[in-house]
Amino acid sequence: MHKLLKMLFFLAFVWIAITAADECIPRDFGKGSIVCVCNSTYCDSTPETSSEPGTFLWYVSSNAGQRMELTTGKIGHTEEGSTILTLNPEKRYQAIQGFGGAFTDSAAINIKSLSDATQQKLLETYFTREGSRYNLGRIPIGGTDFSTRFYTYDDIENDILLKKFSLAPEDTDYKIPLIQSALQMNPDLRFFSAAWTAPMWMKTNNNSFGFGFLKKEYYQLYADYLLRFLDEYKKQGIDMWAISTGNEPSNAYVPIVTINNMGWTAGTVATWVAENLGPSLDNSQHNQTLILGLDDQRFNLPWFIDLVFRNKVAEKYISGVAIHWYWDSLIPAVVLDKTHNHFPKKFLLMTEACEGSLPWQLQKVILGSWERAESTALKMFENMNHWVTGWVDWNLALDKVGGPNWNENNVDAPIIVDPETDEFFKQPMYYAIHHFSRFLPRGSVRLELEDSSIIFRSLTSIAFETPENKTVVLIYNRSSISKKVDIVDPRNGVINLELPALSMNTILY
Ligand SMILES: *[C@@H]1O[C@H](CO)[C@@H](O)[C@H](O)[C@H]1NC(C)=O
Ligand SMILES: *[C@@H]1O[C@H](CO)[C@@H](O)[C@H](O)[C@H]1NC(C)=O
Ligand SMILES: *[C@@H]1O[C@H](CO)[C@@H](O)[C@H](O)[C@H]1NC(C)=O
Ligand SMILES: *[C@@H]1O[C@H](CO)[C@@H](O)[C@H](O)[C@H]1NC(C)=O
Ligand SMILES: *[C@@H]1O[C@H](CO)[C@@H](O)[C@H](O)[C@H]1NC(C)=O
Repeated sequence: MHKLLKMLFFLAFVWIAITAADECIPRDFGKGSIVCVCNSTYCDSTPETSSEPGTFLWYVSSNAGQRMELTTGKIGHTEEGSTILTLNPEKRYQAIQGFGGAFTDSAAINIKSLSDATQQKLLETYFTREGSRYNLGRIPIGGTDFSTRFYTYDDIENDILLKKFSLAPEDTDYKIPLIQSALQMNPDLRFFSAAWTAPMWMKTNNNSFGFGFLKKEYYQLYADYLLRFLDEYKKQGIDMWAISTGNEPSNAYVPIVTINNMGWTAGTVATWVAENLGPSLDNSQHNQTLILGLDDQRFNLPWFIDLVFRNKVAEKYISGVAIHWYWDSLIPAVVLDKTHNHFPKKFLLMTEACEGSLPWQLQKVILGSWERAESTALKMFENMNHWVTGWVDWNLALDKVGGPNWNENNVDAPIIVDPETDEFFKQPMYYAIHHFSRFLPRGSVRLELEDSSIIFRSLTSIAFETPENKTVVLIYNRSSISKKVDIVDPRNGVINLELPALSMNTILY
């Protein structure tokens, strides 16, 4: 064959291979929806696509099986729909911090149970530009319930010089190598950390859980302990953007909770931040590391933060309020507005969320569950429509029963691994988060988007402007009531759409 012809054949082949490379390989586990299957050589992705002026890109994922399906359209000028979403670019709200997930011990153990090539694909699907563009990673300090055992970094009683402090094999052999790979894929990845408890011997109840608090005489020692963790991670090239005051301190007040935890009162945590953690960070190489307050459920808002910030030194040291989603259905989102209104300079960040955690959800992992994608998406809309600046999912990957978890507190995750076949499954939940994270870079600002329908609202929506001045509108269609929708942008025109039933949509122009 002629050389040039050969070359053209080759190029045509490569082109087909590339354009086909983004598609989901579906597998139906009989739940009315699908997972997308990835392995050592293949994973679906969302390639870079730019829109011409006057046109828009529209990505859809749906209960019916669409996954990031792309359509392009022209921006028009006539309103046709029965639902009008009107953008008000003048009214601007919070700026986005980012999106991500947690490098728990269990996530790392699960990822490492796959072949090297499959591990690479899994990290790529979260952290690269063709993946979810995750730019936040939560790193537990020591063990959590999503570990295979209880431990802290110094379990030698009364080691008041921290001579026996050391990272665990879970860090050195599992988490750190994965975190380093993720950081290579996205240099813009920021990490934040949280301890579940201090070593037992520093606590009033000498226990890993229960009604126990940090002993007053160890306030400084515990701050030193946390700084040692920051030092050790920094030596591995992992700088911490932020550290929280501790995971879910309210668990100490709930007798049935046996997950590692340590209690705080608003007064004690404020004193400890003002006198120990804050000054220690300031006087160290970690002087750029921010402090996040709360790291706990919505029911603590706004009162707990109001009390903490009565201590003006603590208020100065704490940059943001970290929240978890587990009580979101019971406590209305207005508590987020209140917190924002009381302290408008402090950002709100979701630092832990997952499906399948409720005691009556007996099946912890439901492969292909669209209901869980919908629930995730709707909670993201709700929180971000109330000042929340980002969303950090819980375990990056779990096994088929939602573990391992030494406390039998298994839950679901956006990615489930199957080491027997060296595959992993991208759950519908993965795409719910991807619809946000893929299109909203750090610094994107929420714009007002008004829904004209008064009753029977079947759409949930939110809008942003990115730092590149792209407009991003997200819409979830959860019922069959309204016929068509128009997005009216006074600067650009009208976008007429008909959204599939039970669908998550990102519109970009
Ligand atoms: C990975 O999945 C792709 C797409 O389904 C398939 O063509 C390929 O053979 C699989 N590779 C392995 C190693 O199983
Ligand atoms: C604390 O608990 C450990 C067992 O978890 C025990 O060995 C130790 O003696 C206890 N220390 C005190 C001071 O009670
Ligand atoms: C703050 O951190 C930087 C870099 O980590 C370091 O060079 C500087 O000396 C630190 N400042 C203090 C007061 O320790
Ligand atoms: C975005 O728009 C603002 C104001 O309209 C302008 O100042 C800025 O330069 C624009 N940024 C980009 C990246 O085009
Ligand atoms: C939402 O889905 C329903 C059911 O298919 C459809 O009838 C309706 O038109 C859709 N809504 C919008 C606004 O596109």
